[in-house]
Parts: sequence; structure tokens; C-alpha cells
Amino acid sequence: MTIINKISELEIWLRVNHRDHESLGFVPTMGALHRGHLSLVRYSQADNHRTVCSIFVNPIQFNRAEDLAKYPRMPEEDIRMLEREGCDMVFLPSVEEMYPEKPRQVYRFGPLEEVMEGAFRPGHFNGVAIVVNRFFRMIRPDKAYFGLKDYQQYLIIKEMVRQDQLPVEVIGCPIVRESDGLAMSSRNLRLSEKQRATAPVIFRALSAARDQYRSHTPESLENYILRFFADIPECRPEYVSVANADTLQPVKHWSDARSAVVCVAAYFGEIRLIDNILLY
Ligand code: PAJ
Repeated sequence: MTIINKISELEIWLRVNHRDHESLGFVPTMGALHRGHLSLVRYSQADNHRTVCSIFVNPIQFNRAEDLAKYPRMPEEDIRMLEREGCDMVFLPSVEEMYPEKPRQVYRFGPLEEVMEGAFRPGHFNGVAIVVNRFFRMIRPDKAYFGLKDYQQYLIIKEMVRQDQLPVEVIGCPIVRESDGLAMSSRNLRLSEKQRATAPVIFRALSAARDQYRSHTPESLENYILRFFADIPECRPEYVSVANADTLQPVKHWSDARSAVVCVAAYFGEIRLIDNILLY
């Protein structure tokens, strides 16, 4: 596996290793890799001749300085894992390499960014869109792989690609979970033992919601989910949203949406976790 830090070296690698008639798959990450990330690498390998992964803790998508400072960084372990998976190249640029100047682009994603993560983390998706757009333009992949764990991010990236008419197919991949149901996340590393033990309540609530939604209205389903968190002192839900899976706008009646998703963000102490489940 080739390890590259500079855009100029990336250009050379692509020229030497990537032929036009071959397909290139791309998996963007912020590192501290786990089986969720590696599953994306595998989907890419199954679909493409070559797979490139990026590891870059993108400062402009963090809206809390502390979250950025404490984001886990373990590049040596990440590289070992990608090597073992047979990834062809990993791109690990510095902040200066990605942002020689302060980026000024402003994306407008309309109603899609006005809810959930967009509402609670101002500027977050603009930072995500800028960095992914830069990667897409540098790497020029045929297909790019995103986890449905960050469901809103997946829809935002598809919208960015549509607006900018980039020739990339954006592929959403299933959520990988721990055996107790907790969605894998680099942030899980920061949970205390007690928080880690209670965090699977998120998936229990979401699974129950999926099984029971027919006997609820969308609004009463949100309350049903909130009750799972009510007696857990270390858990503070930020939002529970039953939404149209295409637009992420709230659903009033089940028949209004072709497909519906429940999205949750909850704090366990300082650590903010997100998860979601497709209802239908
Ligand atoms: P990061 O949180 O490192 O996630 C990288 C990719 O892995 C994302 O597409 C995310 O949805 C996916 N992923 C994370 N946990 C997963 C799980 N349990 N199952 C399946 N997929 C999972 O998302 C980002 O980084 C950044 O915002 C990025 C897109 C790299 C832009 O900076």
C-alpha cells in the first residue's frame, strides 16, 4: 500500500497506477478506523480495480474546538489496518496541504441542512462538503463510499455532487454495529466504561421503534423513543426525529413519505453519538 501526504505525489500515483478504463473507488475517513470504515473499503474493492482511502481530521467541520482537539488520532494503527485490507493507497494530507488558504466556499443545501445535524452543528456540513469536494476533484474517483450511519451526510454529499455536476457515483453502505448493537464510531473510544455499557440503549430504542411504528403516529413514536432514554441519567438525547428518508423533513402521516427514517443524537457525558434506522 502506498502512503501519500502531498497532492503532487497523489497526481503522480494516479498517473502511474490508474488507467482510464479501470475504475477507482474512494473511501474518505477521519481515521481511528474500525470495522465500519473497513466495510466501506471492502465494498469499494468488490466494485473497483483500485481503492484509495483518505485519513484527514477535517478542522473546518468541527463546530466545537474541544471535539477537534480530542478527536482520536492513531495513524500508524490505521495504516496497518488498511494494509491488511489490501487498500491500494492511503492519502494523509496535512491541514496546510488541504487548506493553503482559509476556504471560503458556501454551500446551500436548503431544507436538507436545516434539520438534525445541520441544525445542531452550524457550519458542519459546509465543512464536510468542502473537504469531500476537494478530495473528489483531486482523486477523481468513479465511485465513493459513505456509511449510512451518517445518513444526513450521505444525502448532503449526493446533493453536493448533483449541484457541482461531479462525475462520481455516491454509494451508501449499511451501518456496522458492535455485538450489543452500538453503531461503531471513532467517538466510542472516548466513552467511559459506564457510558459504553449504557450506550446500546440507542439501538434498542431504534429497533423497538422499527418493530412498533405501525401502532404509532410519527409524533407519538418520537415520544416512545424518548422514554427509553428517560431513566438513564448519563444519557441526554439532543433530538429524535422521524423523517422522510429522501428529504429528512418531519413526517406527519406515514402515508406522506415513500420511505421513513428515525435519526437520534444523544450525549453520553461529553460524547455525542448519532444513529438511525430505516422504518420502511
Ligand atoms: P468518519 O466519521 O471517519 O467516517 C468515515 C466514513 O465511515 C463515513 O462515510 C461514515 O458514515 C462511515 N462510518 C462510520 N461509522 C460507520 C459504521 N458504524 N458503519 C458504517 N459506516 C460507518 O464521516 C466522516 O468521517 C467525515 O465527515 C468525512 C466524510 C471523512 C469528511 O471529513
